[in-house]
Amino acid sequence: MHFRITPSKLRDARVTVPGDKSVSHRALMLGSVAEGRTEVSGFLNGEDCLATAAAMRSLGVEIRQTGATDVVIDGVGLHGLSAPPGDIDLGNSGTAMRLMAGLLSGQSFSSVLTGDASLNGRPMERIIKPLTAMGAAIESDCDGTPPLQISGGLKLRGIHYDLPVASAQVKSAILLAGLYASGTTSVTEPAVTRDHTERMLGSMGVNVATSGPRISLEGGQSLRGTRVNVPADLSSATFIILGSLLSQDADILIENVGVNPTRTGVIAILQAMGADITLANPRLLGKEPVADIRARSSKLRGGAVDPALVSLAIDEFPALFVAAAAAQGKTTFSGIGELRVKESDRISAMADGMRRLGIRVDETEDGAVVHGGRFRGGEVESFHDHRVAMSLAMAGTVADGEVIVRDVDNVDTSFPGFGDCMAGLGGEIEVLDAP
Ligand code: S3P
Repeated sequence: MHFRITPSKLRDARVTVPGDKSVSHRALMLGSVAEGRTEVSGFLNGEDCLATAAAMRSLGVEIRQTGATDVVIDGVGLHGLSAPPGDIDLGNSGTAMRLMAGLLSGQSFSSVLTGDASLNGRPMERIIKPLTAMGAAIESDCDGTPPLQISGGLKLRGIHYDLPVASAQVKSAILLAGLYASGTTSVTEPAVTRDHTERMLGSMGVNVATSGPRISLEGGQSLRGTRVNVPADLSSATFIILGSLLSQDADILIENVGVNPTRTGVIAILQAMGADITLANPRLLGKEPVADIRARSSKLRGGAVDPALVSLAIDEFPALFVAAAAAQGKTTFSGIGELRVKESDRISAMADGMRRLGIRVDETEDGAVVHGGRFRGGEVESFHDHRVAMSLAMAGTVADGEVIVRDVDNVDTSFPGFGDCMAGLGGEIEVLDAP
């Protein structure tokens, strides 16, 4: 499918966006190996999380969808998973692959993890190396990409690992394997990354110690099933925030959004660019902080984006590139080399799309300089990447002419209903069948 977007003014509104992808994945995986029942509300019915649900079912866990966003998981305990009938296909989801690899390294049975063309091109040495040091045996393709063949029946031992890249997926894979390891497993992060795994393990009765950048746990601790209320996903809310900031006289409130401080880099970066974003009604939803986010039309200005905020905004750079293009002056992004190994090479995918829409982007190895200007109409590619697709769609709302974003089926991985949500806000967006 393609999106056709014509310039539009977004109307004042109160909206909700779907549940948090990271929290939904973790609820499924941790709920599956917990003792007793885990009841999840606000679950993200996106393709990535549905792939994790199917994976956990193939490992013998009963997972039932009891409402539009309600899921019940009957946990089987740490040692209750059973051998899958075949290869486990995790679709497009790097989070599913890396966290599952940690979980499966500690099982008595062997398994194979695979995915779509994008996932099967993503680097896995980052998890293979520490998991192997713990005693796991994982075979990948020769360039370190999936499929992953994980041997069962091996004894894991706790290690300390200094993470070479700031990655919550790698940290979580090691901590999950650590539940099956003897002794203490610990990691040190080079920069703070999302801590949903640590919070959810804590809510399930696991003692996770955090001391500065070091996170550790003792192996063998059992998890207790619990209630998980999934907040709305700030990464999805970002597209609506962006639309509101760029539109004329818009004032949009997005309710119940996760504002875990390990995720809010995007708000800090946009505010530093002059964005009128405020948080109201801050509260805790279980262990996760949430708030209502209000974004109003703003005149944005460029500048140098603080590299210290990168790991706190890692998924939001495609949207931030669009904000930078709409800002006055130039915006310099640095220290974002990790974007090159996401669902696409997001630096070059966004540079390609924005150049086609008349924006000057100078790419560097680990960043880009985006020159503020006006988007013109044109046709762009998503590069099979949901966040690239949605970011370029938002650019279309303020372009001088019609924008076609090609190949947008992937939007369903994280934000099912994005087109309807945009249309409800007054965005002139049509979803077209690809010719
Ligand atoms: C995620 C961590 C991030 C992020 C991804 C979700 C998670 O990846 O990009 O969308 O749920 O742990 P890295 O940890 O590899 O940066």
